[in-house]
Amino acid sequence: MRSLAVAVVVAVAAVGCAGGDARTAPPPTTGAGARQGGLQALARPHRLRMGTAVRANALAADARYGPTIAAQYGMVTPENDLKFAPTEPERGRFDFTAADAVVRFAERNHVAVRGHTLVWHRQLPAWLTEGRFDRAELLAVMRAHIAAVVGRYRGRIAQWDVVNEAMGDDGALRDNLWLRGIGPDYIAEAFRAARAADPEARLFLNEYGIESPGPKADATVALVARLRADGVPVDGVGFQAHTVPGSPTGAALARQLRRVARLGLETAVTEADVRLELPPTPAALADQARSYRDLLTACLEEWSCHTFVTWGFSDAWSWISKTFPGSGAALPFDDHYRPKPAQRAMAAALRAPP
Ligand code: XIL
Repeated sequence: MRSLAVAVVVAVAAVGCAGGDARTAPPPTTGAGARQGGLQALARPHRLRMGTAVRANALAADARYGPTIAAQYGMVTPENDLKFAPTEPERGRFDFTAADAVVRFAERNHVAVRGHTLVWHRQLPAWLTEGRFDRAELLAVMRAHIAAVVGRYRGRIAQWDVVNEAMGDDGALRDNLWLRGIGPDYIAEAFRAARAADPEARLFLNEYGIESPGPKADATVALVARLRADGVPVDGVGFQAHTVPGSPTGAALARQLRRVARLGLETAVTEADVRLELPPTPAALADQARSYRDLLTACLEEWSCHTFVTWGFSDAWSWISKTFPGSGAALPFDDHYRPKPAQRAMAAALRAPP
């Protein structure tokens, strides 16, 4: 189904549209260094990029970290290094030291980059959260930030999470600094600024908790439909997919991906992890493996889903234990970079013919 749809779209694009649509372009030269049998090498026939979150400090600290990524993955998302606080620590003063290290690592290894994230309510610098800005000034701050960060990596970052977690669980826009200071059109303005700064990058609205049906998923679909109707340059919706075994089911995720795809948008799984109670039992690791397989399969079977990123790859470097005390072991490789059942389950899913 997926390969047929892709083939048809490619044929149409080849005939009708000289500029081309990034969704129909061949995958980037990912995984030139990807080891045979690595996840990216297996994903290539599916026209899918397999990615992981990456930390500049881990690249510097652990000699096994970078080589494992280069062997397994075709895409990286800086986990923190492109966020507002680290990149613009003082108003108008930008610091790209850590982000540059990640982007250089990616380029050396022929791995694509997802930019994360421009407009969010967390990891903001104090000058912004404690400052007093009227609407015009806050809009100028947001636009200048986007212009500087996206502009710096123009042509080098394939996808941007332009707006992150804009929706509340109840389906109303999240009450955050941007909504309060600018109003609901901060979202459209952010996408317009990102498009202006890099016309080639694919621009995503990224969200958590929309992998299952409910008011938040409904409101997110309605929001992107409205943005599209208004001509706002949004290209896709990222499904974070921070999960526990069995929830959401693969079928639930598949249905939500489909709803977004029907609007003509790209879909992506952007931050997948499957957290377990610590210490994990063999049965829990097997459940986790099934979850990873099911999430990946939902993406594989949805023609609009070309990106599957996990929020890290080794349990040695995961945000989970800090954020969810008592939970952890959420990633496909263990603390010692050994593949877990989850990694083998994803490899098996990718070995199925496209
Ligand atoms: C998390 C990082 O993983 C942590 O290291 C950091 O302390 C907080 O942010 N949704 C997102 C990500 O969009 O940016 C978050 O990343 C995890 C939840």
